[in-house]
Amino acid sequence: MTSTGGGSSFPVPSETAIPNVFPVTDPMDPPPVGAAVVPDFEAAWAVAYQKAEALLANFTLHEKINITTGVGWENGLCVGNIGAIGDFPGLCLEDSPLGVRDADFITGFPAGINSATTWNRELMRRRGLFMGREHVGKGVNIALGPMMNLGRNAAGGRNWEGFGADPFLSGETAYETVLGLQNAGVQACAKHFINNEQEHYRTLESSNVDDRTQHELYAHPFLKAVMAGVSSVMCSYNLINGTYACENDKMMNDILKREFGFQGFVMSDWGATESTISVVTGLDMTMAGDITLGSHTTFFGQNLTAYVENGTVPESRIDDMATRIVAAWYYLHQDAPGFPKTNFNAFLPGDLATNFHVDVQDEHYKLVREMGAASTVLLKNVKGALPLTGRERNLFMAGSDAGPADIGPNKYADQGGQTGILAMGWGSGTANFTYLISPYEAIQHRARRHRTSISWTFDDFDLDRAGNMAIGQSVSLVFINSDSGEDYIVVDGNEGDRKNLTAWHGGDDLVLAVAAQNNNTIVVIHSVGPLILEPWIEHPNVTAVLWAGLPGTEAGNSLVDVLYGEWNPSGRLPYTIAKNASDYPTMIIEGDIAGETPGQAGGGDVVLNITYSEKLEIDYRWFDAKNITPRFEFGFGLSYTTFEYSNLNIAKILQSDSEQTSDEARWDAGNATRIEEGSSTALWLHRPAYNVTFDVKNTGDVYGGDIPQVYVHHPASAGEPPSVLKGFTNVEVMPGETKLGGGDPMETLTKLS
Ligand code: BGC
Repeated sequence: MTSTGGGSSFPVPSETAIPNVFPVTDPMDPPPVGAAVVPDFEAAWAVAYQKAEALLANFTLHEKINITTGVGWENGLCVGNIGAIGDFPGLCLEDSPLGVRDADFITGFPAGINSATTWNRELMRRRGLFMGREHVGKGVNIALGPMMNLGRNAAGGRNWEGFGADPFLSGETAYETVLGLQNAGVQACAKHFINNEQEHYRTLESSNVDDRTQHELYAHPFLKAVMAGVSSVMCSYNLINGTYACENDKMMNDILKREFGFQGFVMSDWGATESTISVVTGLDMTMAGDITLGSHTTFFGQNLTAYVENGTVPESRIDDMATRIVAAWYYLHQDAPGFPKTNFNAFLPGDLATNFHVDVQDEHYKLVREMGAASTVLLKNVKGALPLTGRERNLFMAGSDAGPADIGPNKYADQGGQTGILAMGWGSGTANFTYLISPYEAIQHRARRHRTSISWTFDDFDLDRAGNMAIGQSVSLVFINSDSGEDYIVVDGNEGDRKNLTAWHGGDDLVLAVAAQNNNTIVVIHSVGPLILEPWIEHPNVTAVLWAGLPGTEAGNSLVDVLYGEWNPSGRLPYTIAKNASDYPTMIIEGDIAGETPGQAGGGDVVLNITYSEKLEIDYRWFDAKNITPRFEFGFGLSYTTFEYSNLNIAKILQSDSEQTSDEARWDAGNATRIEEGSSTALWLHRPAYNVTFDVKNTGDVYGGDIPQVYVHHPASAGEPPSVLKGFTNVEVMPGETKLGGGDPMETLTKLS
């Protein structure tokens, strides 16, 4: 349909649903992974809005405002709470992006970064679904994830919660994760909107980002979350171009609600609301409710009521806020009588009256184990070091990361410390492990089968001993790691962000000490993000390197599956590993704001300006543009077999529907597109435009999966980085066989490519 006169031509992606192309979709019944459709959630929203309006019809102003105002820090069962009002039972908001935080008998899933590292949509979706089920089982209405900031800085403290340093990969992972979570009936929350790219001074930092960069990079995963029907978005602590995210009209009203056509609600990050007037610039809910956590004051509540009463804020805006929030609840069918009541207490885990210890783990460990293996990247493999054959007479393990923490996996609150195997970072983005299988446990178990003699040292610093123990071993495994997290916890001097990109606990020296004595030294790395591997990567005795990221509760078992070849590595790096830290385009800006304490929510009067002057050239885009050779490029990963590609074919897909043809024609003529409500999610932009096919042959001798990746090289006039990811899929091929790569929706390029 074309726009006639005034009014919006597409308040939703397309005005009419189209079966098999743009099908009417309920968030709890999403299209299967890989379906060549763009789901249309419009009807589901419309029904939810009607119900919300009916419920709210008799609510007083005060009651409606209560729906938008969190009850305050530590005043409810969950990390965030909306109180019960009339027939509305209230809402439980709970972290985290990798499992149910602050609860027991839950699954510690692989971190977001590992989900992206699989490049496997099926696994991404299932992880979302299972996490969603666990949240619902605990009576959580809104799961505070996924986290989708981009990892602009290699040392960014929370990068591991997210999906890597490329907007397309992050967007695809966000899309599948949101579809999975909401399929289970929990509301997803896309966070942190936007540019929360470092932890240092996150509440006092202005990310200064030009419009094109914002749209093409940082906002893209949020666009995909909206296209997946996400019900809520969390605005971030930082400022954007001089205005706090949670009072940023441009980001919340203009881009999110207008361009993306987002119909759910925007909540603040905890303590990130800066003013009452923020409601006019797009904020719908304040969390945890108080101005600073525990202050017992609020910008909403009474203050907002007063603003309405004195005419500063129209009541229609309060109606809109409350309607969005209640509609999201109906939209996920959380009004159903069977929706579980909250059965845990985030702040008082010992309270008998409120903790029912509901076991929500089901068989989710199986996915965790599989995803742990699927997200392990084989970086180096020479002299046939891997897979292990089982015929190794003896195997030695070195490094604290091989073993368990001394008093169990939850020694530190919010995982804010580091001993033993690293399987998640620290901060609000964590969960308590119900159990955690270390490599040492899993390898020992395996050793019984192969009658392998095992030895180990978990001492990272006794290099003489480690070297001596490595002598004469069939294989030595050295475990190293690197941790980071959220800024309210400081670990070993790392204030959320990493101080550097080197291995923790002197890991490089440990590798060198073992490699000096053993010519079959395999390095295993658990890390929140890139490390500089130069001290030993080319050492002739380092025969293999496995990059395991943060695999979650089955860490050891996943690793064993890869080590012994039960899983042929198919993980691919979701960021670039450089040769030098200074090769990256940006670094954490620590600033020097006297008297301010990192981690405190709320304003200060000195703002740290960070200009994103690298623009579109983050991560691999920068390395390409500046001709810097990385150690391992974005998308890199080896396999135990080899693949050969041939018969590349690119075909334009001709569209047959008549809707929005004028917009398409305008685009094809190189003209600007109209910006209207929902214009960025308009169907014509997201329908397949080109079909890319090719043959993938397994030229080795074991079964394996590869991840074909499509990079677009724009003409110079486009002003794009040299090469940008726009498609990927996964193919599994038997030795000697050939399969068609692409040809499915994952290998089609859209207009936005
Ligand atoms: C974090 C959010 C989190 C919230 C609630 C904040 O400090 O930035 O990601 O959801 O706390 O725990």
